[in-house]
Amino acid sequence: MRILVCDGLHEQGVKIFEKAEGIEVEVHEHLEAPDLLERIEGFEGVVLRSRSQINREVLERASCLRVIGRAGIGVDNIDIEAATQQGILVMNTPGANAMAAAEHTLALMLALARHIAQADQSMRAYKWEKKKFMGTELYNHTLGIVGLGRIGSIVANRASDMKMRVLAYDPYISTDVAAKLGVELASLDELFRESDFISLHTPLTKETRDLLDEPAFRKMKPGMRIINCARGGIIDEAALYDAIKQGIVAGAALDVFSKEPPVDNPLLALPQIIATPHLAASSEQAQINVATAIAEQMVDYLLNGVIKNAVNMPSISPQIIERIRPYMLLAERLGRFLSQYFQGNVKRLRVAYGGDLRDLELAPVTNAAQKGFLEWVLAEEVNMVNAPVIMSSRGIELDVATTSEVRGYTGLITLSAVTDKGEFHVAGTVFPEPQCRIVQIDEYRMEAPLEGRMLLITNFDRPGVIGFIGSTLGSFQVNIADMHLSRVRDKGTAICLVTVDNPVPPKALQALREHENIIETAVIEV
Ligand code: NAD
Ligand code: MLT
Repeated sequence: MRILVCDGLHEQGVKIFEKAEGIEVEVHEHLEAPDLLERIEGFEGVVLRSRSQINREVLERASCLRVIGRAGIGVDNIDIEAATQQGILVMNTPGANAMAAAEHTLALMLALARHIAQADQSMRAYKWEKKKFMGTELYNHTLGIVGLGRIGSIVANRASDMKMRVLAYDPYISTDVAAKLGVELASLDELFRESDFISLHTPLTKETRDLLDEPAFRKMKPGMRIINCARGGIIDEAALYDAIKQGIVAGAALDVFSKEPPVDNPLLALPQIIATPHLAASSEQAQINVATAIAEQMVDYLLNGVIKNAVNMPSISPQIIERIRPYMLLAERLGRFLSQYFQGNVKRLRVAYGGDLRDLELAPVTNAAQKGFLEWVLAEEVNMVNAPVIMSSRGIELDVATTSEVRGYTGLITLSAVTDKGEFHVAGTVFPEPQCRIVQIDEYRMEAPLEGRMLLITNFDRPGVIGFIGSTLGSFQVNIADMHLSRVRDKGTAICLVTVDNPVPPKALQALREHENIIETAVIEV
């Protein structure tokens, strides 16, 4: 398997790839878009930092790609939607550079408050401008943090230690968590009105793009200061320029820009701006952290199927994967069985978990069920990553429930297809060997191995049918490996699930269907 590193990676990360059996790594300090397009084909994994762009065009050329590893947190340089549609896992390394980014934020806040960068430049010109660089203290001043995640929380904690009053705006954080951090939650308008410093720590999303725009600056305290170590694009740069000119913003420290590296950016001509080149994560420790984390995660995924820190798939740790792997296989096979069994136009897939399963991490099992359900019928590649998106793009709803129904089994999975012709159910369990067993098909109960090629026959429960099935299959040289029967006495019908060693020719199916007591036949492969 081949890994392409397209934005440089600390050597400790590269070594992890080199040591992994069956993995080859090719390292580039930076690949410009045309070079990346040219090179990407044939690689199973690609690693990038913030500079390279993995867009739809690149992904269309990457027919072997299975995983994109972002050595860092922000994934706004990756087309996640396109990757997910193509079944490519996208993983990042949350938290691995948080301390570096938080410390850089604090460094910039202090530098802004005391004009460190400007005073340094002045000194190099042998000037002694003490009055010009009169500063302000952080003590007793208010810091407004937008986005109280990993980095925002560290900044909040350190700022509280410096006896700043800390306000935060983050709709996705509870007041309890904020209170534990010593932070007051505020509305965005309150934060704008009351902050002496505002520090941004959200991802760049539709909601946060241009969050600091002209109306926002108008609400701010004159003389306030801004720090952005999150993403360019959260600040409308033209509006910031005007706010500085109008004296609303006394200074801004920017580590990130709407276009990186910036070209002809008028902000960089302003003395109130201090700037660093997307440097917040550039500490020796953070670079080792992100490089080793992404390399370990990617190797573990490619070699062992372990999913950690994926942004388009639920995580599966090695401990969990060991416990749920048999159920993932069961769910996938039940999905395949059901997709070859149901009739009509499917509207909804229902997955119900009973028994011990209820205590497990079930999202990957549900993805496996969706994969199994879709892959039999679609020409496109379906995998654990893209199955949920393909389901919803086809308008198939998904219901997941836990149930107390377990019928004496340790764990029970029931899949149901709700269609315009009714509801179709299959249920299964895992025996210790481990072996997948099918224990129910609609109202028929049984206990049969769920593997290989099967023939499902629905018949009237009358004498002679079983013998006829055996002799007919035999006459077509079809060897029976296993046979399970189940009937519903009140209905007078039965089913016969036959596992066969070789394909059932169409003529054999036709011969079976000609029997007056055989209602239906279906060949099912799982
Ligand atoms: P995180 O996911 O831990 O935290 C982000 C927080 O933003 C979350 O708490 C979330 O609830 C909040 N949020 C999301 N949308 C919001 C909105 N509309 N309004 C308010 N809050 C909102 O992420 P993190 O690891 O703390 O990283 C924060 C940012 O810093 C990201 O943009 C990341 O890419 C960037 N970053 C930059 C550098 C750098 O080198 N400059 C380094 C590391 C991280
Ligand atoms: C990140 O999102 O982690 C940062 O942008 C740091 C980086 O990778 O340069």
